[in-house]
Amino acid sequence: MWMIKLVSLVLLASSASAATAASADKVLSNHATLLADNSANLAFSLYQNMAKEKGIDNIIISPVVVASSLGLVALGGKASTASQVKTILNAAKVKDEQLHSGLAELLTEVSDQKTRNVTWKISNRLYGPSSVNFVDDFVKSSKKHYNCDHSKINFRDKKSALNSINEWAAKSTDGKLPEITKDVEKTDGAMIVNAMFFKPHWDEQFHHQMVDNRGFMVSRGFTVSVEMMHRTGMCGFYEDKTNKLNILSMPLAHKKSSMVFLLPYHVEPLERLEKLLTKKQLNTWMGQLKETAVAMSLPKVSLEVSHDLQKHLSELGLTEAVDKAKADLSNISGKKDLYLSSVFHASAVEWGTDGNAIDNSIFGTDKLKNPKLFYADHPFIFLVKDQKTNSILFIGRMVRPKGEKMRDEL
Ligand SMILES: *[C@@H]1O[C@H](CO)[C@@H](O)[C@H](O)[C@H]1NC(C)=O
Ligand SMILES: *[C@@H]1O[C@H](CO)[C@@H](O)[C@H](O)[C@H]1NC(C)=O
Repeated sequence: MWMIKLVSLVLLASSASAATAASADKVLSNHATLLADNSANLAFSLYQNMAKEKGIDNIIISPVVVASSLGLVALGGKASTASQVKTILNAAKVKDEQLHSGLAELLTEVSDQKTRNVTWKISNRLYGPSSVNFVDDFVKSSKKHYNCDHSKINFRDKKSALNSINEWAAKSTDGKLPEITKDVEKTDGAMIVNAMFFKPHWDEQFHHQMVDNRGFMVSRGFTVSVEMMHRTGMCGFYEDKTNKLNILSMPLAHKKSSMVFLLPYHVEPLERLEKLLTKKQLNTWMGQLKETAVAMSLPKVSLEVSHDLQKHLSELGLTEAVDKAKADLSNISGKKDLYLSSVFHASAVEWGTDGNAIDNSIFGTDKLKNPKLFYADHPFIFLVKDQKTNSILFIGRMVRPKGEKMRDEL
């Protein structure tokens, strides 16, 4: 009797822990998997569209968050205003409910602090003009699926309207994004605002003492002073000799995603590289990575970048929602009185030396002999690629880090 009880207790305990392990590594649903993959296509088309624009230097976008904002438009839209979103997400056949739950599932998975050891704070808000009435159903569903809150804003006093948007963004990122916009062009529509703070934790840390000041060459004649961190270790590495660039892939904590750097051999405008950048090419490069000893030097980064994506999304096919005469966003307000006037997408991204402890047993062994050099002291493209879902959490380019101009060389 006594023995039997003990056995069943042990069995109970082991099945309980198996259940926790399974939930910690949940399998994505089919529609979330499809949307993850499609959001990676969106990453490249949106990046390419933005890179064409003159006058912007650094770019940071989170394609999975952009996909979510598109989902919000689909939730508020009717007829072709809504169906255009599905076309952009290549999800015409996905049912509405699955679109919203799938996008929510994807974002919850990739931003989970516990299973990924990442700091990724995402806040979303929909602003409408003071005349608008938000429908209860929409308020509830948009909160549930997209963690989006709502606010009316009176642009008759533009300065205080701008202040309140910027204050909200600062507050929701613990001060990391002090200002997301200096101006709003069109003040009569609905505005989606994403405010994010992202800080990855490396799978292998940099020693905090291995940091010094170096020059970062923005262009041949212009160098700024930045903090660079250095480390030698094993990493995914590939040298593409034909295209004259080096690719480095560094896993983030828990190895569920990695940060991929695309660095041309020498300082040059990034256009040449950007022309090559497609999902297919990235997959080819990823397939060529080999575990290699690399002596890497990366700038410590703290960037705040804000984009209005409205125009870019319309160029990718979201033509109705942004058009005052055609937009039907009546699921938001019960009337055909709204159009999408801006999509502010703002991120503060920081990376430094923090990460998991290094496996010291490798030092002094042959493995680290003759490391490849990866010295990121000039403009590069970076991506945070997710292994588990195949989505792209961030894509961007670092062209102009913060830092004092250094003395011109003769
Ligand atoms: C990541 O893990 C480290 C070490 O366990 C911990 O100190 C840190 O707070 C974690 N960060 C996040 C964002 O979970
Ligand atoms: C949007 O409107 C359509 C048609 O009136 C309705 O069937 C649908 O349930 C609405 N969606 C939401 C999220 O309220």
